[in-house]
Amino acid sequence: MSGAKNAALPILFSTLLGGKLEIGNVPALRDIRTALSLLGHLGIHAISLPGGNAPSVALDPVVESPDVWTGHFRFSEVDESSYEAPYDLVRTMRASILCLGPLLARRKRARVSLPGGCLIGARPVDMHLNAFVRMGANISIDHGYIDANTNGLVGCDIHLPYPTVTGTENILMAAVLAQGTTCIFNAAQEPEVTDLALSLKARGARIDGIGTSSIRIEGVSALSAGTHKVMWDRIEAGTFLLAGALLGEPLTVHGFDSDLLVSLMVALSEMGASFESHGHSVTVRRISSPRGTTIRTEPYPGFPTDMQAQILPLMAIANGSSTVVETVFENRFTHVMEMNRMGARIDIHGSRAFVRGGSVLEGASVMASDLRASAGLVLAGLVANGETVIQRVYHIDRGYERIERKLESLGARIKRVREEAVT
Ligand code: EPZ
Repeated sequence: MSGAKNAALPILFSTLLGGKLEIGNVPALRDIRTALSLLGHLGIHAISLPGGNAPSVALDPVVESPDVWTGHFRFSEVDESSYEAPYDLVRTMRASILCLGPLLARRKRARVSLPGGCLIGARPVDMHLNAFVRMGANISIDHGYIDANTNGLVGCDIHLPYPTVTGTENILMAAVLAQGTTCIFNAAQEPEVTDLALSLKARGARIDGIGTSSIRIEGVSALSAGTHKVMWDRIEAGTFLLAGALLGEPLTVHGFDSDLLVSLMVALSEMGASFESHGHSVTVRRISSPRGTTIRTEPYPGFPTDMQAQILPLMAIANGSSTVVETVFENRFTHVMEMNRMGARIDIHGSRAFVRGGSVLEGASVMASDLRASAGLVLAGLVANGETVIQRVYHIDRGYERIERKLESLGARIKRVREEAVT
């Protein structure tokens, strides 16, 4: 597996808090390149270091030195005068909202384009902004930008109405340099939040309750130098685990921490999967006669919403029906229509998907819509009869490092073709 996109992104933005960070296992992904560009725009310099363990892929000009991606970087702040995250960068990646907290905390000023909604939902950031106002920020919205400034953030108690992942990360980063103590209640407990907190502690931040729903931060005047290795991507691992449950002869996933995907493994066990875990690897064999099951997506440690699209193809071919309740996002079933075009029989009623099972999937030309939906379509294509052509695969490249090469190495017949060759 590669490093986790949703851990690497907040950690990269945390370099706006100052201090020096050396980081390893950063995945070579589209969103990471976007974040590096935005950080360059904000005066944070990233030097690619030799060594590292990520495979080599072409590097963007934004990052200096060798032309291979080592996943190993050293960050330093060369200019702290800028504070604006421009629309043309933010619009391609909602996670850019994660520069708001660090900019406010250290540069006391931030102007960040309001992230629009996306296909899976409106995805407001009200909880982020309300927390910063409570910490002493003045915030206004004008011409689609969040305009924020402060004389200095002050720690306080923050009760989150919902355990928002990037909301928790944004507040955590701001609290690190705030004056006094901040307690975040109903904080997100996702492992990626924990990875960010550990990277901050490595630079001298004072944080207690890491990995729990109550995080306590004692503000410090400045961060020091530190190093961190990004955790493995548990969603990528879960995606390959499902490929194994569908077609494993058997399949072993390396760079997999089974403690971080218990809810997925329980669901797959209910469907008939059996696993062999050894160290940071897990082996899974194709389920010969999968059973249906019911899942509800929930904040960690519940079933991850980011794994919902990927489990549907297995449910579609299972003996018996399944139900998926999507509780995190309001519109995260766009991939269902495409899977139904491949022969799945899934009915959507509000936040529920009813899967009839017993289908034989047929290859088709389908459209990727969001990052995880695309991964679900790849899995459907692998198990379908005939050829499947997935368009707009740039969605996949946002979160999966060269997925076609990893799958090819497992015997899949998959290749990337140019968009025009398809049309
Ligand atoms: C993070 O998004 C992830 N992105 C998402 O992964 C993931 O699906 C999601 O968490 C849930 O696990 C990153 O970490 C970069 P939320 P985030 O704030 O933080 C509502 C991927 O594929 N909400 O936990 O945006 C929101 O509308 C992406 O890598 C508010 O109402 O998710 C949603 O319904 C997709 N107000 C729910 O909370 C707020 O201020 C959960 O959102 C914040 C959130």
